Amino acid sequence: MPPLTATLRALHGDITTLDCDAIVNAANSSLLGGGGVDGAIHRAAGPELLEACRALHGCRTGDAKLTPGFGLIARYVIHTVGPIWRGGRQDEATLLAACYRSSLVLARQHGVRTIAFPCISTGVYGFPPHLAAPIAVRMAREHGMGLDEITFCCFSAADLVLYETALASGK
Ligand code: APR
Repeated sequence: MPPLTATLRALHGDITTLDCDAIVNAANSSLLGGGGVDGAIHRAAGPELLEACRALHGCRTGDAKLTPGFGLIARYVIHTVGPIWRGGRQDEATLLAACYRSSLVLARQHGVRTIAFPCISTGVYGFPPHLAAPIAVRMAREHGMGLDEITFCCFSAADLVLYETALASGK
């Protein structure tokens, strides 16, 4: 495994305000917008984002697709579709890990050096945040090569504590 070059960090804030090469959107399979962080990103990016998403013809759970950021500070939006939590016995953890991996692979393919993730699947989709954070951090450690900085953007203070704990665990 090549050494991880990226710096990992967690912060409490609104992902649409972050000045990084790419921000990740927790989308749904239609890629046609929604609530939560999806709604916030579309509002901040403007209507061109929806037009660009229409041309992508959807996205499967665990996959990721890239668009320009349009009105956002970020140059790109990487749209990924997290699993809906159904109790934990339907490959939810594997699919959530795939979201982070797919997003990081796509980012590297497009020369992205700094990226920010929301807490994918832990809102509307109901994935327990305390189970999601270690998965996200592990995927960043395993698939963050080639990037300079990976930010976990937590919308709540409680999520920030979970990510600070996962980052401190070091494993
Ligand atoms: N910046 C960062 N994080 C945010 C923001 C924001 N502006 N707004 C919400 N969040 C956080 C939520 O608090 C949660 O921790 O993003 C995380 C993911 O929650 P959701 O946005 O509900 O996404 P998810 O659980 O993956 O469900 C996806 O919700 O909005 C719809 O279209 C979306 O159908 C899809 C589903």
